[in-house]
Amino acid sequence: MSKVLVTGGAGFLGSHLCDRLLADRHEILCVDNFFTGTKRNILHLIGNPLFELQRHDVTFPLYVEVERIFNLACPASPVHYQFDPVQTTKTSVHGAINMLGLAKRVRARILQASTSEVYGDPEIHPQTEDYWGRVNPIGMRSCYDEGKRCAETLFFDYRRQHKLDIKVVRIFNTYGPRMHPNDGRVVSNFIVQALKGEDITIYGTGQQTRSFCYVDDLIEALLRMMESGPDLPGPVNVGNPREFTMLELAERVLSLTGSASRLVFQPLPEDDPKQRQPDITLARDKLGWEPKVSLDDGLRETIAYFRRELGSR
Ligand SMILES: NC(=O)c1ccc[n+]([C@@H]2O[C@H](COP(=O)([O-])OP(=O)(O)OC[C@H]3O[C@@H](n4cnc5c(N)ncnc54)[C@H](O)[C@@H]3O)[C@@H](O)[C@H]2O)c1
Repeated sequence: MSKVLVTGGAGFLGSHLCDRLLADRHEILCVDNFFTGTKRNILHLIGNPLFELQRHDVTFPLYVEVERIFNLACPASPVHYQFDPVQTTKTSVHGAINMLGLAKRVRARILQASTSEVYGDPEIHPQTEDYWGRVNPIGMRSCYDEGKRCAETLFFDYRRQHKLDIKVVRIFNTYGPRMHPNDGRVVSNFIVQALKGEDITIYGTGQQTRSFCYVDDLIEALLRMMESGPDLPGPVNVGNPREFTMLELAERVLSLTGSASRLVFQPLPEDDPKQRQPDITLARDKLGWEPKVSLDDGLRETIAYFRRELGSR
């Protein structure tokens, strides 16, 4: 059993990570400023003697004693990270500096939740970890993409300069229960629109592809990465390499919800990548990890969650 800090622990991925860590009998300090996270996500954990919740913004230093740090704090969807782009960059960059400073002080191992967005609009497909990416430094998504890239730089500089035990994971699209209903991400958008009987919005022709990883698979990868040997700082891609077009996804959602919603087409937003797919060879080789949950099974769980949330039948 170890003392584990989860920043962004009241968010979508963070709350599932807290669930898993508690099930494994770790002691958790969950830190969140509740910008996109909510107490509802972790309500069931409050009262557990191994779980402690602290309202804190990672752009300010934190002084606690822990052995492991999962740094997940950062809004993850364009609607949220573009709401206050300066704060988004601060959360990524100052947040990384503060959490790395904490890790250095208490000699904790620290894992960064990075993102496939560091690859930008990639020229190679699928993306391997040695690809440096093609990112617009001055666009609407840059606060997130460049913030996360800078955080990776900081992690590796702390490793080189201060011999810190770091882990960097590049997370590709992940979905599951506790996603935000209104964050504009495609899986939640489609499911919510289908359950409400509203038109399903497809951007562009719907031929652009995405890969979707179910949250349980993703959390397993984070845990394995955290406990991997010190010779594996990353970055390691984690995601589901199976690609679907937006049209295919919409059809699966329509079929599994039994909805009569219509598909409507709208122009592609600025900087929207046409294709994104992880090469997970490294995760397979070094972590013995690959996704196990099928899209249909994951969608069923997610649809059931949104049905409960929306109070629909
Ligand atoms: N979900 C995905 O598909 C995905 C993909 C790539 C990367 N990621 C990364 O994983 C992490 C978690 O993403 P998520 O999908 O759970 O998003 P989320 O928005 O649900 O969770 C982020 C959490 O961080 C908190 N937070 C934001 N700014 C903070 C600050 N300054 N101080 C303290 N807490 C703060 C939010 O309140 C929220 O609880 C993020 O770092 C994100 O960039 C997620």
